[in-house]
Amino acid sequence: MKLPNLLEAKKRSNEKVLIKTNAYIIENNLKELGLGKKYYVKTYGCQMNEHDTENIKAILEDMSFSEALEMENADLILLNTCAIRENAHNKVFGMIGRIKNLKEKNPNLLIGLCGCMAQEEIVVKEILDKYRFLDIVFGTHNIYNLPNIIAQTLKSKKTEIEVLSYEGDIVENMPVKRDSKYKAWVNIMYGCDKFCTYCIVPYTRGKQRSRRPEYIIDEVKNLVNNGYKEVTLLGQNVNAYGKDLDINYKMENLLEDVAKTGIDRVRFVTSHPWDFTDNMIETIKNYPNIMPYIHLPLQSGSSKILKLMGRRYTKESYLELYNKIKENLPYSSITTDIIVGFPGETEEDFLETLEVVKACKFDSAFTFIFSPRIGTPAAKMEDNVSLEEKSNRLQRLNDLVNKFSKEANETYLEKIVPVLIEGYSEKDNNKLMGYTDTMKLINVVGNKTSIGKIVNVKVKEIKTWSMDGEIVNDRVSI
Ligand code: 5AD
Ligand code: SF4
Repeated sequence: MKLPNLLEAKKRSNEKVLIKTNAYIIENNLKELGLGKKYYVKTYGCQMNEHDTENIKAILEDMSFSEALEMENADLILLNTCAIRENAHNKVFGMIGRIKNLKEKNPNLLIGLCGCMAQEEIVVKEILDKYRFLDIVFGTHNIYNLPNIIAQTLKSKKTEIEVLSYEGDIVENMPVKRDSKYKAWVNIMYGCDKFCTYCIVPYTRGKQRSRRPEYIIDEVKNLVNNGYKEVTLLGQNVNAYGKDLDINYKMENLLEDVAKTGIDRVRFVTSHPWDFTDNMIETIKNYPNIMPYIHLPLQSGSSKILKLMGRRYTKESYLELYNKIKENLPYSSITTDIIVGFPGETEEDFLETLEVVKACKFDSAFTFIFSPRIGTPAAKMEDNVSLEEKSNRLQRLNDLVNKFSKEANETYLEKIVPVLIEGYSEKDNNKLMGYTDTMKLINVVGNKTSIGKIVNVKVKEIKTWSMDGEIVNDRVSI
């Protein structure tokens, strides 16, 4: 049993990151362990977790498990969890309650919890205390060892817990079962060293570790050869890519080299305003296959609150960067994340956030009420804003954000835009769906032969969070 430890997870040393090219090994006797059995993975949280799930699924299929379409039909259920806010937490514990009923009907059902919550000391203590029926708990650093963890649980019939709280290595030989045939997530770095005062991620995902460029470029070239049209370069703070490598190679170099592979579309998330350099802007400008879409979390429009958050930029410097991006990439769409109700946020501070939103007119924004995460500095700060006030601020912010989202979408009406058609629309099976280069969701009238292709679409109707359009033969008009 290896348990997580909060104090260990906080540590950062200068120790060299190990690149492991053969950490994932599956012994012959485990290759058929899942024969005739089905698995179901439920994923919560960010794109990192989505991509981890793609690794987990491939590992399970290497063990001969097959995927169940419904949780009720599975022999193994894994919850790949998120720790970022309390409500993500609560959802998972709610789900565990539901799964307990399944286990009562089928005692052979294996249940596991992994992802960021597994890295939290208090969560694992709670599981050991109250949720003993869970069979497996493994952390974000232990995915490669899943075959052995499952085998060990089956052998011992006890809860198997393997969560390492060390700063982390890089495992380069993990298999992957991608959700899409056209767009792919590609990790470029793991962990985060920013330690924003509200954020649990640096504790659950370890220190910043950039993958070496040659592995990333190889992965992208392979995707191109397999017909992929789009890659999204993933990291908690992608602009800091390369800072921890022993070579002089930064995010702008990586963007350029990935663009040069010839992949049709390159995206990247998430940026931190602090590390966004002029060279990055220049590179995005120079390569038409780097998409004009930037997610640039603001978090707050008050410099006082930003300082308390440990964000290392001010309202003014954020606006300066924003304006620089817009001047150089006028067609780009910019989205953001905003937290309301951070400890000490006054009405004046909140009004400053609204002011920045009005100045930037974001294409869209993810908005949150501050959620104290145990172990982070902000959880200990005095918080005298009532929940009612916080909810009220969130509502006012959302009203403004939605107004600008719709206005931004309206500028597309009757324009012709490039769209990567991904498949059928979930809401309307007669329509196709995809995203524009600027990451706008669009439902499209067109022929299914367009699936997997980048086509030109004329925008016919605007909604707050999506648009409707039809495939045309005319050229792009934006
Ligand atoms: N409370 C509320 N929102 C948070 N985020 C991160 N930590 C917290 C927290 N403790 C938000 C930030 C981040 C996004 C992924 O989640 O806005 O950018
Ligand atoms: Fe969390 Fe800040 Fe790191 Fe983003 S940059 S993952 S908000 S600590």
